[in-house]
Order: sequence, then C-alpha cells, then structure tokens
Amino acid sequence: MPSPPETASTTVPVALGERSYDVVVAEGGWDALPARLESALRRTWAGKPCRKALIVTDANVAALPYPDRTREALAAIGIESTTAVVPPGEASKGLDTAATLYEKLVAMAADRHTLVVPVGGGVMGDLGGFIAATFARGLPLFMVPTTLLAQVDSSVGGKVGVNLPRVKNIVGAFHQPVAVWVDVASVNDLPDRELRCGLAEVVKYGVILDAPFFAELEANADAILARRPDLLRRIVARSCELKADVVSKDEREQTGLRAVLNFGHTIGHGVEATAGYGGGFQHGEAVAVGMVAESRLAERLGWVDAAFTERLARLLGRFGLPTSLSGLDPAAVLESMGRDKKNKGGRIRLVLPRRMGEVELTDAASADDLRSLLKDLCR
Ligand SMILES: NC(=O)c1ccc[n+]([C@@H]2O[C@H](COP(=O)([O-])OP(=O)(O)OC[C@H]3O[C@@H](n4cnc5c(N)ncnc54)[C@H](O)[C@@H]3O)[C@@H](O)[C@H]2O)c1
Ligand SMILES: [Zn+2]
Repeated sequence: MPSPPETASTTVPVALGERSYDVVVAEGGWDALPARLESALRRTWAGKPCRKALIVTDANVAALPYPDRTREALAAIGIESTTAVVPPGEASKGLDTAATLYEKLVAMAADRHTLVVPVGGGVMGDLGGFIAATFARGLPLFMVPTTLLAQVDSSVGGKVGVNLPRVKNIVGAFHQPVAVWVDVASVNDLPDRELRCGLAEVVKYGVILDAPFFAELEANADAILARRPDLLRRIVARSCELKADVVSKDEREQTGLRAVLNFGHTIGHGVEATAGYGGGFQHGEAVAVGMVAESRLAERLGWVDAAFTERLARLLGRFGLPTSLSGLDPAAVLESMGRDKKNKGGRIRLVLPRRMGEVELTDAASADDLRSLLKDLCR
C-alpha cells in the first residue's frame, strides 16, 4: 500500500494499557485517515473484522463536509456506513434519541464489530459514545470531534452518557474510543461563541497543569482568535496531552486526580444551572466565570494573590469570555451548587489554584466562605 501523503499533524497517545489509543490532530489531511484508522482498528478485537459503521451526526454538522469525508475514509478501508442525523443541541443527548439509534443499529444488522462514529460536537460524542458503550454490551467507537470543546475535552477520557430530563450526564459509562481524528480546520465553521467556550477549557488546562502553556496562550491570544491553523493544532494537541495524562493516571475518577479537571466547574455549574441550561451562560462561559470566582476564593485562603486572579481574568477577557458574576442571585448559585455531587457534609469540595500550573482538591472552604464570596461577587 502506498504510504499516506505528508500532512501537518500531531499524534497524541492516550496511554490506558490495552485501551490505549491515539488522538490525531491534523490540519486537513484527510487522505491520511484511512491508513491511520485501519491500523487503529486492527489493534483491537472488535475493530479488526469491522465492515459496517453507524455515523452519528447532527443536522448542522451534516451540512458541513465532515460526515462525508468520514464516510469516504471508511469506504476506503472496506467499511460501509449508514448515517443517522439527529437534531442539533443538548436535547438530542437523551434516552429517546438513543433508542432511535439502537433501532438503526438493529435495522442495519449490527454486530459486535460495528463501528459507531460520532461526527460533531460534544453532544454527538457523548450520545454516540453512549450507544457504542451499551449496544450489544460494547461496540468499537471512533470519534471525529468538530467543535473546539469536543476536540480539547469530551473526546479524551472515555466519559460517555446522556441526560435525563432534569439531570445532566447522569446515565453513562466509561468507554474509550479506538481512535480520535481531529481536523482543526473544522473549527473555521464554528460560531465565535462556540470557539470561545472551547477556549475556556483550554485556559483551564494551563491553570491546572501547565504554566508555560498559559503564557503561550497569553502570547498568542489574537492569533488564536483569528484561528491560525498551526496554533489551533498546538492548543488542541497540548490540551489533549494534558487531559490524557490525567486520565491515564485516574481513568475512572477514583483517586481524586481526575478531579483537577473540575477547576472552575463547581461554581461554574452553579452559574450554568442558575441561568438555566441553554440560558444566559453557555457551559464554557460559566466555567470562565467559575474559574475567576474560585480563584478569588483561593485568594481568601491565602493560596494565590490578587494579581493571579487578575492575570487569569485578563486572558479570559481577551478571549471574549465573561469573568463576572454581577447581577446573579448568590443564593440561587449556592443552592444549585449545593446539589452538586462533589459536596461533602457542610464543606464544599473544590479544586483551587495554588500557583499557575498547579491546583489542589480541597475542602478548606466552608459553605459560609462560599456564601460570603458569592455575595460579594454577585453585587
Ligand atoms: N464526555 C466528556 O468528557 C465531556 C466533556 C465536556 C463536555 N461534554 C459534553 O459536550 C457537550 C457540549 O459540547 P459542544 O459544545 O461541542 O456542543 P454541541 O455538540 O451541541 O455543538 C455545539 C453546536 O455547534 C454545532 N457544530 C458542531 N461542529 C460544528 C462545526 N465544525 N462548525 C459549525 N458548527 C458546528 C453543533 O451542531 C451545535 O449546534 C455537552 O453535552 C457536555 O456535557 C462532555
Ligand atoms: Zn467543562
């Protein structure tokens, strides 16, 4: 077989023993996909004899070239695919949609070697991944994330799942993909607001794990916003590397290490839920506000100084992300956080910064500390 053409790409290995896989972060270069995918499939029991695939995408992404390119790459290695298009948005991440996809798999006579391929944002990844985890007790999964958020976050780590009408992400599994293919060019089609939401998670990786990466984001903020492909590839690859490192040490969130990824998310979830899901704050926006608020809390504990929080807020601001809670109802934010599963007794478990590139899971802050912080910040 001729060797695949040269393309600008970075391969990020996710080390999980026999569940290890690569995230390939490419700038275009789809010609290289068939060979990469074939070798990834060959390494697995379920993937080796794979001849059929179900591509799961949403109606927005279906209008873009990525589902077709994926179908062509699959066809090039002898895999025939069926495409299921679901409505875009969080509402599709539920058991009803899952049931229609199970029916589709039955109709196509899927067996345990049928590949499930979500092409789209985190909603497609979580939904398609959930189908793959559960149908016939587990089908191989190949992910093609097309939003920055999905590329830097939801496609690494194996958490898949759906929502119940009132509770997000409550039904799910850990199910690792056989491979992840990122074309950073897909980010060119993303609305600005979606790009920014992904950038909030990218900033988070710098704060929790990698001070030089944070400085790199500061130095390149404008070019990143202008979507320079080499920088997108760099930030996606570095984010995946950092998350992969955490996940490989605590795959199932059992040692507490994986919790560092929740920086900004405890207060962030409170903000997101208070504003109403799909309301005033998108997830990444709520995380941006949450990171600043949690950093202010770390200041009160004497862990960081005010200059630390200001530096963080400045970078988030340059990325067009909100950094203030003013106008929100502090009692409502606290109440939404109170239902959060990370709380223990009267203390609130939070991940707080120690210095740039280092955070710690702690219950050093009490509910009273939080109440007074939120009262001040929501003014
Ligand atoms: N499993 C995990 O570890 C994990 C981590 C973080 C987030 N998530 C989940 O991810 C979901 C959010 O992901 P999301 O923000 O990608 O949402 P999403 O999948 O709804 O995508 C956002 C919007 O962008 C559109 N879109 C997708 N790709 C596009 C492209 N290339 N160009 C233009 N538009 C495009 C989609 O149709 C959608 O309207 C949530 O459900 C969240 O719970 C999961
Ligand atoms: Zn998040």
